[in-house]
Amino acid sequence: MKTLLLNPATDPEALPRAAELLRSGELVAFPTETVYGLGGCVFNAEAIARIFAVKGRPADNPLIVHIAAPEQAAQVAAELPPTYWLLAEHFFPGPLTVVLRRHPAVPPIVSGGLDTVALRMPRHPIALELIRLTGEPLAAPSANRSGRPSPTCAAHVLEDLDGAIAAVVDGGACEIGLESTVVNLLSSPPVILRPGAITAEQLARVLGEPVTYWQGEELAATPSPGMKYRHYAPNARVLLVFSWEELQHVLRTEPLTSSIVLAPEAAPFPLKLPLRPLRAETLYAEFRAADRAGIRSIVVVCTPEVQRNAALMDRLRKAAAARPEEQP
Ligand code: TXA
Ligand code: MG
Repeated sequence: MKTLLLNPATDPEALPRAAELLRSGELVAFPTETVYGLGGCVFNAEAIARIFAVKGRPADNPLIVHIAAPEQAAQVAAELPPTYWLLAEHFFPGPLTVVLRRHPAVPPIVSGGLDTVALRMPRHPIALELIRLTGEPLAAPSANRSGRPSPTCAAHVLEDLDGAIAAVVDGGACEIGLESTVVNLLSSPPVILRPGAITAEQLARVLGEPVTYWQGEELAATPSPGMKYRHYAPNARVLLVFSWEELQHVLRTEPLTSSIVLAPEAAPFPLKLPLRPLRAETLYAEFRAADRAGIRSIVVVCTPEVQRNAALMDRLRKAAAARPEEQP
């Protein structure tokens, strides 16, 4: 299959074409404000099965359903509790995914067999227009092969999926660069299953009740099946350091010709070394670039400012814990 690269900035037919492909059961990758998603029509179980196949995604790892208006949630969720409307009012469109009861019309395969469904309304104009033109919600996991860093530009999608999907809609680089916050609204109080740009404090303020982070000691018992899989990992080994002393210590044993250091731009840097910027927006692009360059180790300097960013630390810890042979 030849994968089309569609650009709405230069081609007025790009989005109508993409919507037509989706309606005929094809898979189309599209930009959101977080990362690129791999879309398929949510009510088309055969298209959804192909999403799992082309990604190499384990069948029990559920997908996120994307909607273009808060009311459209009624098509995929069995009930919309008051907490849903509160959060939708404050954070939709935006990088927040909510877990609710699944509507019986949504094929179970979308949710990896669970009776729940995760949904969000993205903030990207291309994503919203594509959902509207298609006329139904789109199930869309991140558009990477399972275990690879999520794509934050069209070229990353092609790196993983060229020839395996019908089209990629090019919307340039993603604004946020890390996946949405996932919050389970079926538990009381609500629990964050995956940290993202919307923080626990922001959610708690709007809901008027505490919001906690899922402490996944027992990974097999996690309510968010995706969390038990190794994620966000480059081929290179990722080493986290928390001080300049620790960095100097690590660099004594790492082969400098095949290592890079990621650190926040504002950080004072005492060593003469190739230094790459550490920012949420560009983390996955840095991981992919390191792999293309054959880098063996990526040393990440986690300053106090980085440590306060729950989403960034979550992805860094997962990348540091992962080994390629352990990935699905
Ligand atoms: O920012 C994002 O959320 C991006 C863009 C494309 O929207 N999507 C994304 O999808 O990151 P994916 O499939 O890579 O991650 C979905 C996460 C997984 O951790 C999965 O386990 C969790 O959401 N999830 C999905 N449905 C769930 C459910 N019913 N219950 C609990 N967790 C669920
Ligand atoms: Mg993903």
